Amino acid sequence: MTGADPLLLSRLMKHLAAMGVITEHACDQYLPSNLSQALAHPKYADGFPCFAKGAMNAIYGLPEYLARINYRNPGSGLDSPFQFAYGTTKHWFEWAAENPPVLSQFGNHMSAYHQGRPSWMDPDFYPIEDNLLTGVDIKPHDVLLVDVGGSLGHDLEELLDKHPTIPGRLILQDLPAVIQQARNYNGRIEPMAHDFFSVQPVKGARVYYLHSVLHDWPDKDCKLILQRITAAMTPGHSKLLINENVVPDVGADWQITALDFMVMTLVKARERNQQDWRRLLESAGLRILKIWSHENGIESLIECELA
Ligand SMILES: C[S@@+](CC[C@H](N)C(=O)[O-])C[C@H]1O[C@@H](n2cnc3c(N)ncnc32)[C@H](O)[C@@H]1O
Repeated sequence: MTGADPLLLSRLMKHLAAMGVITEHACDQYLPSNLSQALAHPKYADGFPCFAKGAMNAIYGLPEYLARINYRNPGSGLDSPFQFAYGTTKHWFEWAAENPPVLSQFGNHMSAYHQGRPSWMDPDFYPIEDNLLTGVDIKPHDVLLVDVGGSLGHDLEELLDKHPTIPGRLILQDLPAVIQQARNYNGRIEPMAHDFFSVQPVKGARVYYLHSVLHDWPDKDCKLILQRITAAMTPGHSKLLINENVVPDVGADWQITALDFMVMTLVKARERNQQDWRRLLESAGLRILKIWSHENGIESLIECELA
């Protein structure tokens, strides 16, 4: 805000102090707080402009949209509250790619989204060593894990931070506009532009990984995304790990129900319960080995293999 009018700045700072974002020290003197320091980082700040530009109109328009469709449950199709409010026929990700900086802000937001929530990479959640590495000879040129729709690579970075000696190659796939911004963390992450609706080029990886991807798409699209992966999996060797919410039958947490409304509004999709996941995965030729859950289904890990 270099060059901003001092009176405007003074009013802005007073309001931020009144809201508890910063601390008022004396007249026109302020101190940062943990919140303002966090918001100075794009990773935490970017969710605000991203959703202000790319979601708020759809959220405000939701009551009118639901009245128009006579309060039916929004099914699949490119006529979501988002498309209604924004006057577009494009899917949110296609629209975001054409409306910079929304997509890059979304990537930063996603890198923070997972923080403070249960992580399957933590020792008390999913036994990585036992279930992915023991009894499997992963040579340096073998692919250990492909993060499909992995955004900027924050999950692979977390995996390397928490398991620095993990063997094999780690491949990060996303749309070209996202992959352009990805970093090759510690020289270990291989970014690759890939549309997950097209043929999966990496065959026979030990793990294909989808985090918060399938909740953006209705079943019909998810089935194609999954089939592209199953076609690349090696029977008896490859696993699919899906890191998503599993909506409990009773007592769902607000983090899940709020996200359910968000994906309904933006992409006409939904958070899935255990039966939904079983039905979807079986329809794509997969078998669930186990659903690993902490904290009431939030950020569960659905471990699958070819049926
Ligand atoms: C909700 S984000 C999840 C990102 C990441 N897996 C995470 O959990 O932070 C969904 C991701 O899917 C990517 N995506 C959307 N359409 C795609 C497509 N057709 N092919 C590949 N990636 C796509 C988006 O760019 C975005 O990074």
